[in-house]
Amino acid sequence: MCVEVPSYHTPVLLQEVLSFLVTTTDGIYVDCTLGGGGHAHAIAERLTGKGRLIGIDRDEEAIVEARRRLARVSDRLTIVHGAFGDISGLLHGTGVDAVDGILLDLGVSSHQLDDPARGFSFQSDELLDMRMDRRQGTSAADVVNAYEEAHLVRVLWEFGEEREARRIVRSLLRARPITTTGQLAAAVRTVIKGPRSVKSLARVFQALRIEVNGELEQVQRCLQSVPGLLRLGGRVAVIAYHSLEDRFVKDFFREQASDRIPSGSRFLPDRPRTPELRLLTKKPVTASPDEVRMNARARSAKLRAAERV
Ligand SMILES: C[S@@+](CC[C@H](N)C(=O)[O-])C[C@H]1O[C@@H](n2cnc3c(N)ncnc32)[C@H](O)[C@@H]1O
Repeated sequence: MCVEVPSYHTPVLLQEVLSFLVTTTDGIYVDCTLGGGGHAHAIAERLTGKGRLIGIDRDEEAIVEARRRLARVSDRLTIVHGAFGDISGLLHGTGVDAVDGILLDLGVSSHQLDDPARGFSFQSDELLDMRMDRRQGTSAADVVNAYEEAHLVRVLWEFGEEREARRIVRSLLRARPITTTGQLAAAVRTVIKGPRSVKSLARVFQALRIEVNGELEQVQRCLQSVPGLLRLGGRVAVIAYHSLEDRFVKDFFREQASDRIPSGSRFLPDRPRTPELRLLTKKPVTASPDEVRMNARARSAKLRAAERV
C-alpha cells in the first residue's frame, strides 16, 4: 500500500497502529486525534464501503485540514469537532454506541507546534496561547498571569517534571504580565542559563500546554469510556509521547486486564473481577531507528494496545 505523507503532520508508528487496530474491514473505527488525518487516511483506505471511520479533533484547523485531506474517503467518514474526553457523547451524537477500534495519538501535531500563531513554541515570539480548541476560555497567558505561586510550581513540577520549578516560577512572577512566548522564554532564561535552558524551556512549555488543555484529565475520561464502547474483540491503541501519559495508559490497561481488584490493605485479600481488556503489548512498541531518522517526533513515541474481552 502506498501511503501519502502529509506535510501538516507525519503519522507516527503508522504500520504498527494499522496492524493492532484494524481487525475487520467492515468495522467502525474512531480516530480520537485526527490532526492532519494521516492515521485516519490509512485506516479509512483499509475499510470497505460498509466500514466507517469517525474522526474527532478539538482543533478547528485540524478539522479543516482533515476534511480536505480525507475527501477521497468521505463516503465512509464522519468528522466531529470536540474533545475525546466526551467520546461517549460525541459517538452517541453520530448514532454509534459500539465500535471495533479506537485510536489516540496524544499531544499536539507538528502543525500546531510549528504555527507561530498558536503560541505553543518557544522558537518564535508570539502571543502565549496554547489552546487546542480556541473556543475554550483559558490561555497559557491566563495561567501564567493568574495562578498563585504554589499552583504554578505544581503545574511545572507535575506536568513538566521540572526540578527548578520554584526558581522559574519566582522569575515568572517578577516578569508578570507575560503575554508572549518570547517574554515567557526570557523569564525562564533569567534563571536557567546556557544550554541547560533549552530543556527547561521544553519542560515549561509542555507543562503549560498540558494544564491549559487539561490533557491528562482528557485521557483519563476517554480511557474510562473505552471498555464500554468496544465490541468484543474490538481494540484500543494509544500513542503517548511523555512519561506521565504513558504511565497512565500502562496502569489503566493493566488494571482493566487484571482479574483482581487490589484491596489496598495488607490484611484484606484482593477481590476478584472479570477483566475487560487483554493486553496486546506487554511492553510499549517504539519507532524503528529508520522512522526516527525520518521523523524526530517518533523518538519519544510509545504505543500500547489492548483488546476487549
Ligand atoms: C499528534 S496529533 C494527531 C496526528 C494524527 N494522528 C495524524 O496522523 O495526523 C494530536 C491531535 O489531537 C488533537 N487533540 C489533542 N487532545 C485532544 C482532545 N482531548 N480531544 C480531541 N482532540 C485532541 C490535537 O488537536 C491534534 O490535532
